[in-house]
Amino acid sequence: MNSPPEKTNHRILIIDDNPAIHDDIRKILTSAEARNPALESAKAAVLGETSPAPEGASFRIDSAAQGDEGLEKVRQAVESGRPYALAFVDMRMPPGWDGMTTLSHLWKVDPDLQIVICTAYSDYPWEEIVGKIGKSANMVILKKPFDNIEVLQLAHALTEKWRLNEEVRARLADLDHLVRQRTAALETANEQLRHEIEERSLMEEALRQAHKMEAVGQLAAGVAHDFNNILTVILGHVSLISETSGIEEIRSSVLEIRESAERATSLVRQLLAFSRKQVLQPLPLDFGEVLTNLGEVLRRVLGEHITIDLQVQPRGHLPLVNADLRLMEQAIINLAVNARDAMPLGGSLVISAREVEIDVGAVQQNPEAHTGRHICVRVLDTGGGIPAEVLPHIFEPFFTTKDPGKGTGLGLASVYGIVKQHSGWIEVQSELGRGTTFRLFFPVCAPESKDESTSSETSPVAGGNETILVVEDEPSVRRLAVDVLRRYGYQVCEAESSLQAIDLFKQRIQEIDLLLTDMVMPGGVPGTELASSLQEEKPNLKVIYMTGYSRNFAGTDFVPSGDRVLMAKPFSGQELLRMVRRILDR
Ligand SMILES: Nc1ncnc2c1ncn2[C@@H]1O[C@H](COP(=O)(O)OP(=O)(O)OP(=O)(O)O)[C@@H](O)[C@H]1O
Ligand SMILES: [Mg+2]
Repeated sequence: MNSPPEKTNHRILIIDDNPAIHDDIRKILTSAEARNPALESAKAAVLGETSPAPEGASFRIDSAAQGDEGLEKVRQAVESGRPYALAFVDMRMPPGWDGMTTLSHLWKVDPDLQIVICTAYSDYPWEEIVGKIGKSANMVILKKPFDNIEVLQLAHALTEKWRLNEEVRARLADLDHLVRQRTAALETANEQLRHEIEERSLMEEALRQAHKMEAVGQLAAGVAHDFNNILTVILGHVSLISETSGIEEIRSSVLEIRESAERATSLVRQLLAFSRKQVLQPLPLDFGEVLTNLGEVLRRVLGEHITIDLQVQPRGHLPLVNADLRLMEQAIINLAVNARDAMPLGGSLVISAREVEIDVGAVQQNPEAHTGRHICVRVLDTGGGIPAEVLPHIFEPFFTTKDPGKGTGLGLASVYGIVKQHSGWIEVQSELGRGTTFRLFFPVCAPESKDESTSSETSPVAGGNETILVVEDEPSVRRLAVDVLRRYGYQVCEAESSLQAIDLFKQRIQEIDLLLTDMVMPGGVPGTELASSLQEEKPNLKVIYMTGYSRNFAGTDFVPSGDRVLMAKPFSGQELLRMVRRILDR
């Protein structure tokens, strides 16, 4: 803070109707004594000053004969920026205002003016003065006749007091300015802090949500894994019975069982999709092509009352995404079905795909996002929208607002899992009564050639006479595989662990053509390691892995190769036979 410039002011105004008084005061104040350093130090002693008073203070004195004339001078002085420090005002000044009236006028114009009221006798008792003007610190009463020293001291003391008042005011103004500056800085810091706290709590909420989804996902994966084994057995035996039983009633019951088991299978698939434990068969996909090919299916799913607007670029214009086509289609169809349900009276569905560059700012907004080039698939409907209290739950498995039997609540859970398993994320915007927009983001992959397409599911089932080693720790699944394969002519040897399998293999190394092994075996050597060690012994050994979920492969993009393929549980007898034949024939 700058110290204020010293602002001395020696302007004095005398207001008195008696010219003699003017002369007296002038004489006293302009006499040699007024500038006498001895007097100055006397004054300093009186005021308790430590620094010497300005040397040779010479008062500049003006006069006025009446109160109103004095008021005019004070006003001019204030207006010109050179106010008086002090006024000597006579108490009685007929015919004009008396001293009291005059001083109250003067203070209206210049509240800082120091005033000495000069009075010959008690014109007004002290109480009356105080009653009229209050206890003012800017006023002193001086009794006539004056004592010269007293007049001089008053002049020095009161002009100095005026200066000190000025200085205090300047310092206060500085201080005020500083306080304002600091307050503004604090407010800015506060605002920033508030902003950061808000951002942090959003991030925390997103993280909490992600953890919750992770926990539910693990639970779902566990359930799905066990169900896969159970369903594999049910479906396998169903196909065995339906082929052998000639009795019509049994056949139709078996058909019912198969349908239910297949429904359960698709439910388990959704659960697995949610828990991101599905076996991925990723290929470089062009979303322009994926969406165009899906158009016809979508039109059938949505019905006449909904218009579909596919805003896609022709094939070859978008960068590719390494993704599992079947899962991508499943995700988009799930979103489209939800959109349909949100538009019972009709509306429109817009699906688009475009390339976007995600920057750091976007990642700060959404902790699930990643920087870099992405394909953004947008699915927009003009339906009823999602209420704010529903929105935080829509991705939870089994969360549905639909009537019993109408929705399982697995649609969005599986979309969520599918997108996450492809290293992407989802954003949702919804406005009640206006509609909902889902955006799925997938990282763009380096261009690659397309892999050969996988099996045709309709090829006829054929058997063979090759020898197959079946390794599976779950007895019912193992028995089923062995049964089915034997029925179709294969030689089968079975093992319930990798170690047992290695023993068997050693004994029959010449005969065994194919290893059919579970991927995960508790406590044992995993299927992949078993396969590798057996293939070292016999390089042309074919391998099929059976797997309930891709715990080992999650996110690693397992690509099936020529002599190693994946078989996702649950599978039917036919599927197993087709796969075995296909791989043996390679
Ligand atoms: N496009 C949408 N418009 C309005 N609400 C939606 C939309 N998509 C999802 N929802 C809400 O989210 C809930 C969960 O959706 P989700 O797809 O997971 O399950 P579902 O559609 O109820 O059942 P399922 O898909 O398993 O048959 C829905 O019940 C609905 O309340
Ligand atoms: Mg749904």
